[in-house]
Amino acid sequence: MPVTLVVGGQWGDEGKAKIIDYLARDVDFVVRYQGGANAGHTVVVGTEKFAFHQVPSGILYPKVTCVLGGGMVIDPLALVAEIDGIVVRGVDVRGRILVSSQAHLVMPYHVMLDCDSEDRRAQGAIGTTRKGIAPAYADKARREGIRMADLMRTPARLRDLVADHVRENNKILKARGMKPLSPTKVAKGILAARARLMPLIADTRPVLWDAVAVGRRVLCEGAQGSLLDIDHGTYPYVTSSSCTAGGAAIGTGLPPSAFERIVGIYKAYCTRVGNGPFPTEEKGEVGKRLRELGHEYGTTTGRARRCGWFDAVAARTVVKINGMTDIALTKLDVLDTFASVKVCHAYRIGQRTLDVFPADARDVESVVPTYETRPGWKEATTGRRIEDLPRSAVDYIRHLESLVSCPIHLVSLGPERSAMVRIPRGPTPVLGA
Ligand code: IMP
Repeated sequence: MPVTLVVGGQWGDEGKAKIIDYLARDVDFVVRYQGGANAGHTVVVGTEKFAFHQVPSGILYPKVTCVLGGGMVIDPLALVAEIDGIVVRGVDVRGRILVSSQAHLVMPYHVMLDCDSEDRRAQGAIGTTRKGIAPAYADKARREGIRMADLMRTPARLRDLVADHVRENNKILKARGMKPLSPTKVAKGILAARARLMPLIADTRPVLWDAVAVGRRVLCEGAQGSLLDIDHGTYPYVTSSSCTAGGAAIGTGLPPSAFERIVGIYKAYCTRVGNGPFPTEEKGEVGKRLRELGHEYGTTTGRARRCGWFDAVAARTVVKINGMTDIALTKLDVLDTFASVKVCHAYRIGQRTLDVFPADARDVESVVPTYETRPGWKEATTGRRIEDLPRSAVDYIRHLESLVSCPIHLVSLGPERSAMVRIPRGPTPVLGA
């Protein structure tokens, strides 16, 4: 059974969790493949709101097994707390969470180093989530990380390993003017997490290979977004992992050929949290209105998100990088009250017109977006069926499809699980044929 992959098409916060939640109804496994506690995935079920950070959002479906893949960097103490928080709310997680032995640990010194780097950068800060993500991936690349597999060592050996790492990192903390950590205390915390996590740790690759071989359905869940990808994003204003489709093979151990359906998630407008170039950002009233109507405040940090119009140049570039087969468009209802909506269809740099998102963030800084203005629909769309959507809303969806050259198969019209319309699959034109 081929694997479905869900990836963020913008700068994260596209509403991936809601789409994953929708698709997870029909799957056996939901797998995270990169990132860590920097992610914030919100799912609304009736009056209840769930915010997931490290556990895949598929956990709300009792028959789904959730896998935290080897490409992740996992904060073990935060993971234990997150699992406890889910259990308290009545979700039975027994036997349903697996943690890859290849995943790396985010240690307390990683969090301190992340915060310190941000404070030092001052004006040039990246605006990280301060969850220790970059230092943890840096240790992985330096081959100095601690992996989940290390939690399987005897308590005495693990204690020594952790204490050694803390002592090494204390040198850096001290050099940067920070208080060193107690090796004993950190080791105690990791040993406590070990007791809880050990039953969940496994080589998850054969689990997934076997699942695929016997026709079980696997859904991989990207965190962050393609424009935050370490290679393809607006470097250095990016996260430290491969959020794009390529990262899913690396971060799960599934071969690239397994991924048959690659669903890109895009908001009907754009948002970005943290610093870095954002060509279609609206700093005035429009941005404010999008933020308030879309409740654009971070799930992980509570920060206000920067908001702007849909950027089709960035979107079509991301379609190509990921090889997206179809798109889920979220939060279309946020545009319901606008008399007109704008879409950026090209960039200009001097006399040149660009239809590809530049590879260098400095070039992205200097582009001038070219917009088309389209009529709004001024009608509520939440709760409507696809055939009852206002004509201008349908035109907007069709126009985005043509600008990015990828069919839109799902449209989300509100935070509720039920506020979703499916556009029948088929040859183009997909909608309103
Ligand atoms: P880090 O991943 O915490 O190192 O942050 C690097 C950049 O990615 C910052 O601009 C963050 O705001 C952004 N970022 C990280 N995770 C997310 C996310 O889940 N949603 C949106 N932005 C994120």
